[in-house]
Amino acid sequence: MTDPIVEETVTGHKRLERNITLLAIGTFVTVAIGGLVQLVPLFYLENTIEQVEGVRPYTPLEQAGRDIYVREGCYVCHSQMVRPFRDEVERYGHYSLAAESMYDHPFQWGSKRTGPDLARVGGRYSDEWHVQHLTDPQSVVPESVMPQYGFLKETDLEIGDPEATMVALMRVGVPYREEDLANARADMLAQADPDADSGNLAERYPKAQIRDFDGDPDRLTEMDALIAYLQMLGTLVDFESAAGLEELAEEKGR
Ligand code: HEC
Repeated sequence: MTDPIVEETVTGHKRLERNITLLAIGTFVTVAIGGLVQLVPLFYLENTIEQVEGVRPYTPLEQAGRDIYVREGCYVCHSQMVRPFRDEVERYGHYSLAAESMYDHPFQWGSKRTGPDLARVGGRYSDEWHVQHLTDPQSVVPESVMPQYGFLKETDLEIGDPEATMVALMRVGVPYREEDLANARADMLAQADPDADSGNLAERYPKAQIRDFDGDPDRLTEMDALIAYLQMLGTLVDFESAAGLEELAEEKGR
């Protein structure tokens, strides 16, 4: 090798490869550049999730139902994320938006689907269907491997301190307001009791469904909370009008 530049590069490289400290520093610097390129822009973004109209924090009763959903491990068999593929969209409805799970702590996306995706199950079945199905899935789908959850209907919902749960969620960015905190307990009781005065619950939580969910208006059970949660899944965003907007944007772009 006679070219002096090539000669120098080769010796430089030899030195780097034979000196473990230099090699470690070089590797670190190279990997760090890759890491920084990914990380730094995130510090300059207000929010990585686009806001979507209609998405709101869970009502105390829905949140309690969600906690039961997590406790019972429903996520082991059910994902909550419709992927943007034709077969999924035709089966479950509009693909999931990031904003729809922005108040989920922890999120329930998942990829395990022993049972169907539940991201859009709200409103698909009646409350009675859910009670029947959760109590004895095999009475509805004989070959179902889903466990029976009849005990939820026999277990009174432990109201505990819904305000504390909300304060904890606020720490990770869920925008509950003073008024929501002050009414936490009352909201929880009123949502499943059609005879109670629900105050301005429906205004503070648009599209909140207020009724008895488990077929037993005299008791507030874990079944009430879980069904309240299932029935709101995927119902907050108005995709009819969003689809209209998308179409308009397409036409403009043409
Ligand atoms: C061992 C896996 C398994 C677990 C755990 C499980 N499920 Fe299921 N689930 C299934 C299967 C399989 C189906 C489809 C057959 C059927 O409808 O029973 C199903 C169906 C459903 C459906 C009907 C969905 C639709 O679109 O038809 C709902 C709602 C549901 N499960 C809710 C729950 C809830 C809530 C829990 C937790 C309390 C839960 N599941 C736990 C396996 C499971």
